Amino acid sequence: MLPQEIIRKKRNHLPLSKEEIDFFIKGVTDESISDAQIGALTMAVFLNGFNQDEKVNLTLAMRDSGDVLSWDVDGPVVDKHSTGGVGDKVSLILGPILAACGAYVPMISGRGLGHTGGTLDKLDSVKGYQTSPSNELFQKTVKEVGCAIIGQTGNLAPADKRIYAVRDVCATVESIPLITASILSKKLASGLDNLVMDVKFGNGAFMDNTDDARMLAKSIVEVANNAGTKTTALLTDMNAVLCTAVGNAVEISEVVQYLKRNRVNKRLDEVTKALAVEILTASKLADNADDALSKIEHVLSSGQALQKFEQMVYTLGGPHDFAAHVQDYMPQAPIVRPVYPLHDGYVVSMQTRQIGLALVELKGGRTHPLQTVNHATGMTDFCQIGDKIDTQTPLCMIHAQTESDFERAAFVLPQLIEIGDKPTLYSVILEKIG
Ligand code: URA
Repeated sequence: MLPQEIIRKKRNHLPLSKEEIDFFIKGVTDESISDAQIGALTMAVFLNGFNQDEKVNLTLAMRDSGDVLSWDVDGPVVDKHSTGGVGDKVSLILGPILAACGAYVPMISGRGLGHTGGTLDKLDSVKGYQTSPSNELFQKTVKEVGCAIIGQTGNLAPADKRIYAVRDVCATVESIPLITASILSKKLASGLDNLVMDVKFGNGAFMDNTDDARMLAKSIVEVANNAGTKTTALLTDMNAVLCTAVGNAVEISEVVQYLKRNRVNKRLDEVTKALAVEILTASKLADNADDALSKIEHVLSSGQALQKFEQMVYTLGGPHDFAAHVQDYMPQAPIVRPVYPLHDGYVVSMQTRQIGLALVELKGGRTHPLQTVNHATGMTDFCQIGDKIDTQTPLCMIHAQTESDFERAAFVLPQLIEIGDKPTLYSVILEKIG
């Protein structure tokens, strides 16, 4: 078989066989296929698409390009994946909730890039927490605690790493078949029984348009189920920051406040519980949605979910008393000051992507993969859509490293939040797919 013949076939709108896809991905992994050939094939797929069989075959070939984990545990192995947003800290809460309900959650997360935040950057703000532990420590944490949130290990879906890097510089990221295979190859390599996808739509999401988000959700659900992992998806709103903190350490603090039930943001609560219900019912840890909800409420109110979070932090190298002394174990920005709206009224909309970029300007996010982030900076007490505010009510608190960073954020943020005369109401969960 010749790579150029496979590329030509796809260029000419013909479907690729399993053998051709396997051959190509093997060549990607052993580096016998060049970046130029990866670029050409991914552009042909971007333009001409993949049918269902091709998507499943690509996903499985990429999954099998490296280690495929298996788990010797006495409960379902489950996970959730989000397409990314601003202020999205659901994974950090959902993992412990599911573990407290009897599931095992080997959660492989990513770093932030562009306007979206990354779970690993948030966890890196916790003193001692290892986001790249040895495979043994990862396995031990999942088995003993029930959840471990870490970064992609060296040999998990290595073909995806190479293909993604090429797509990134060849304008082929926004292809539904390629996104489907990229996300699922990594997820399926971690040996899951059940997966729930949080597919975001709106002005802070990767997919702004609801129809595109729906198409992506359908594609992922169909391919994952065909590949043997029971999967559903929720389409959730990212037209506003999800809850009140945006940053790294500040988001971890909000997670702890949520798990302690001190401060429970309504949208965060709704999304987290809806995703948890999906997993608990699909994995048969709950009989139905009502049963799932009562189990979730129980592990939250009894402190069991908080305990799982603390155990995960401790087992992965963090402090044993993290939840009790959060501020002692995380960096804090030297400047913490409010910013006020330009006039009175109701918060009717926000430019969420630009708010994510304001975090990058505060050095709390990155514009290229190797950049380091400032874990202390960000925004807290962020206003919510529907809030009634006046010029004495802060839009948010800015956590900045320098005066000039604060000044810039304080100038930009009021322009990103639209204040109107009437409150607008909208729901955070649009629909379920699968
Ligand atoms: N996230 C991934 O992991 N892969 C993609 O292709 C897009 C988003």
